Amino acid sequence: MNASTAPFLTFEGIDGAGKSSRIAAAAALFRTPPLITREPGGTPLGERLREVLLHQPMRPMTEALLMFAARREHLETVILPALAAGRPVLCDRFSDASFAYQHGGRELPAAALEALEALTHPDFAPSLTFLFDLDPAAAAARLNNMGGERDRFEREQADFFARVRAAYLARAGREAARFAVLDAARTPADIDAEIATLLQQRFPTWLKT
Ligand code: TMP
Repeated sequence: MNASTAPFLTFEGIDGAGKSSRIAAAAALFRTPPLITREPGGTPLGERLREVLLHQPMRPMTEALLMFAARREHLETVILPALAAGRPVLCDRFSDASFAYQHGGRELPAAALEALEALTHPDFAPSLTFLFDLDPAAAAARLNNMGGERDRFEREQADFFARVRAAYLARAGREAARFAVLDAARTPADIDAEIATLLQQRFPTWLKT
């Protein structure tokens, strides 16, 4: 799989950190309208796997395998073709989520996730990853306010999300050049402004003037 020059931006964080609602604001900054997509999901197969992953009880390794199966389909049929055509891609979660949730949260060995990542997308990684960092208690309060039925992940307890958050931060620390860690406790306008500044620094030619 070849990397391409169009930016591939990913948005990560624990459930309730507020990343999904900021993606549209980031997309509006680009000259070429980006492809906005999500994981698990983004393809007909991926969306079916998403339903299963979010609602069907399963073992942690099964969960990890299905996440990467959906990811491979998404990469080959949606993400890489868009990038090759010169279209930026904004993706709500990618492989960092597997390290954070299946290694951090579910406590699978990191080596298992590394092997799946190497198999699924050797030599390919996001151009830049925005990590929406938020205290699990604040994220839980946001989920409570949103109401609605909770999925398998959203029903997890604070200790699970503390491990997910720690795994995200550890990965961001190891790959500091790829990650931008955002304080997600701020207002949406403040977060949008920081994202705009970072994009202007990193991808000026792709943005509207
Ligand atoms: P979303 O609610 O942000 O769309 O994500 C769905 C859930 O899937 C979320 O709770 C995180 C989880 N997830 C993983 O556990 N591993 C992964 O690799 C991905 C992409 C998501």
